[in-house]
Amino acid sequence: MKTPINQYEPDIREADIKAVNEYLRSGGYITEFKKTRELEKSISKHCSTIDSVIFPNGTLSLFAILKSLNIGRGDTVVVPNYTMAATAFAVIETGAEVIFCDIELPSCYICFDSFKEVINQQKKKPKAVMLMNANGRYPNYEINNFLSFCTKEGIKVIEDSAQSLGSYYQDGRHIGTYGIAGSFSFSMPKIITAGQGGAVISNDEVLISRLRSYRDFGRLSGGNDVHKEIGLNLKYTDLQATLVLSQLNRINQLAEIKKRNFKLLFESVKSEHLYINKNDLIHTTPWFYELITPHRESLINWLSKYNIKTRKMYPELNRQRAFTNHPQNAIEFKNSNFISSNGLWLPSHPKLEENEINRIIEALNTFRPS
Ligand SMILES: Cc1ncc(COP(=O)(O)O)c(C=O)c1O
Repeated sequence: MKTPINQYEPDIREADIKAVNEYLRSGGYITEFKKTRELEKSISKHCSTIDSVIFPNGTLSLFAILKSLNIGRGDTVVVPNYTMAATAFAVIETGAEVIFCDIELPSCYICFDSFKEVINQQKKKPKAVMLMNANGRYPNYEINNFLSFCTKEGIKVIEDSAQSLGSYYQDGRHIGTYGIAGSFSFSMPKIITAGQGGAVISNDEVLISRLRSYRDFGRLSGGNDVHKEIGLNLKYTDLQATLVLSQLNRINQLAEIKKRNFKLLFESVKSEHLYINKNDLIHTTPWFYELITPHRESLINWLSKYNIKTRKMYPELNRQRAFTNHPQNAIEFKNSNFISSNGLWLPSHPKLEENEINRIIEALNTFRPS
């Protein structure tokens, strides 16, 4: 049996280990302090925003954005039906309700026409929309038209950019910077990882300050016990921040590797039974390499014979058991159904060697559905 090719694994290098060792030897308090602040400044510099706020993970960063915007019981928020469940669960946990909406292809963004339709069907205007930037891409439609529509309707745009660090809109603005806030994740299968971690970017000073306070038990500032509002302990650790900072130093190199590997796959895979979903490599750093096939189960079995690990793309969210009692549970959203039934993530981590990519290409090109 050939050595396994994992769908994802973290790319931790000597420089990262050295940085963590140095931090531990420095006598730092491990908990959130100067390194986390340094990371906030580096993330906001990378994305050209006024600031950023770091959280323990990308789910809590979404939750904190919603809480800081006073979204909760009695409110509704539109969520694309193709996304990681955290996008919707963060909404539900505030007490607000989720309204599902179909996506467009091939970008897998929320579909602008379905969005307008959904808004028109509602008795009450949704408070916000979660714009999930799938795989680091930008939408097929002009983002400014979407934003103008939302502004006119009084709907706040929150970008769930968990998969998009290192990716840009066509005008060169970093993904996550068009909404009132954007949220990244540093979980294991992300371009930069500390196992867990999240970051909010924003150009809204009031929101930044509310996020900081909410993260720190609603305190006025650190080191005292004066609470101006209710908050939680959503602080990060300087230990993890050190690891993220070290990787952030080479984000451009990481992005280049991910793009180079995608290009090789995209250009070399030729089969009537499957295709690789496209990405614009000038602007997008593909998070995962997405394959579409009507023969998914058969392909998974085939690839497993080559010891090539894959992962099914997200199932339709409205049909998950968690949403059994949701009013849209029985609806079929055409495009999210298509991706959820036919989408497969190939090995996508930055440590993939050329010979491994060639193994994947060969396995895909020789595949015959059984
Ligand atoms: C689109 C999206 N939103 C939210 C999350 C949740 O982030 P985390 O795992 O850091 O909580 C993820 C994680 O993969 C994601 O892909």
